[in-house]
Amino acid sequence: MNSTWPKRTGWHSRTIRIGDSSFPYFFGADCVGEIVDRLTELDTDLLIVVTDDTVRALHGELFDRLTARLPTHVLTHPAGEGMKTLACLSHHLDAAVIAGATRRSVVVSVGGGVPGNLAGLMAGLLFRGVRLVHIPTTTIAAMDSVLSLKQAINTPVGKNGVGMYYTPTAIFTDVRFFATLPARELRSGLCEMAKNALAIRPAALPPLRAAIADGELSDPAVLSWLLEASIDAKSAVTREDTYERGSGLVLEYGHTTGHAIELCDHRARGGDGLGHGAAIALGMLVAAHISHARGWLSDDEVSTHYEVVTGLGVPPSLPGTVRVADVLRVVADDNKKGYLAPDPDSLPFVLLRGLGEPARTGDLPLVPVALTEIRAALDVISANSTARQLVRAPGSQNEAGGAPWTW
Ligand SMILES: NC(=O)c1ccc[n+]([C@@H]2O[C@H](COP(=O)([O-])OP(=O)(O)OC[C@H]3O[C@@H](n4cnc5c(N)ncnc54)[C@H](O)[C@@H]3O)[C@@H](O)[C@H]2O)c1
Repeated sequence: MNSTWPKRTGWHSRTIRIGDSSFPYFFGADCVGEIVDRLTELDTDLLIVVTDDTVRALHGELFDRLTARLPTHVLTHPAGEGMKTLACLSHHLDAAVIAGATRRSVVVSVGGGVPGNLAGLMAGLLFRGVRLVHIPTTTIAAMDSVLSLKQAINTPVGKNGVGMYYTPTAIFTDVRFFATLPARELRSGLCEMAKNALAIRPAALPPLRAAIADGELSDPAVLSWLLEASIDAKSAVTREDTYERGSGLVLEYGHTTGHAIELCDHRARGGDGLGHGAAIALGMLVAAHISHARGWLSDDEVSTHYEVVTGLGVPPSLPGTVRVADVLRVVADDNKKGYLAPDPDSLPFVLLRGLGEPARTGDLPLVPVALTEIRAALDVISANSTARQLVRAPGSQNEAGGAPWTW
């Protein structure tokens, strides 16, 4: 047994500060009772709970305990992005009013980033703003989306195309919720956490590597530590950047090519395509290779990227379904265009000059990167497919192969 595993036990509270907003984040293991106790302290006439059918079915105990203690109206919907629509938002707002919502009511999301984003918009719109509480049940929501004020739904012409910034009153989670997550969903949040460690808090890398090496990532005490490390890293860059348009842009590390890879694979394989976290992990490898080619990252620092990515079970290669030319076409439309001076041959990109040291243009953690540099790095990742066995960490599983994870 390795004593270097990072662990946190018990029930914790952190204050999250984003610009002028601040709110508490309570988390722990086996703490559903404490969560319900805290909700009873809100002095509310009605909890409008926004969830999806999967979470409702898997975590009935939480819903039973809530309805037993507080007037509660549950709004549920089949899981997935189909919930982040104007139609669902409109339906849920009407249903909340019909159920008796008032200005004292509290909108509570229970679930992943999808119910969280929908609930955030509902809270901002109901009576021009009622209280919002998030109870995240995915690692992506707990370690990423609830640490942002961004709330949005999708429109036929764009993901997250309609939204607002809205501050929650509080966040509560029990890391035991993550025990029911499929491996790919569990991995998504952990890849975002790894991104934060590589790009913002390299001090979190040694304990993360120890937890990966010992296969302990599903231990509740380790998950509590990973959550705390994510809170620390994300808060460090959003504290002075409410709208994530300045220092917070470093959170886009790996996302420029990662999003493009994700989209291309989903076009090819639909729901069987790479998960969000796996795609972002590949995007980080692309970014690492570009930095390495510029002489900014050492061989060891690139190896650290590979060790973390493969340790989280992501094969470090482009899936056979994804062509470099297609990725480059999608990358050219990246939403960070406009942050730097327009240039048809380059894109604003988050690159590292060292672990935890984003390269900057003025105050922005972005630099122009030529499409030829991106192509060269993608070619390296593409060629990795033949070398996959050489770089895969011991014990990690291949997403493409569908082998069960051991954690
Ligand atoms: N800044 C932000 O606001 C921000 C940041 C990151 C992501 N997001 C948004 O979050 C969404 C992605 O988040 P997500 O991955 O949590 O999506 P999600 O809410 O769709 O959850 C993913 C899947 O996991 C299931 N699930 C949830 N909790 C579970 C549990 N404990 N056990 C088993 N299954 C469970 C859900 O039913 C769903 O099928 C996207 O819409 C993205 O745009 C927003």
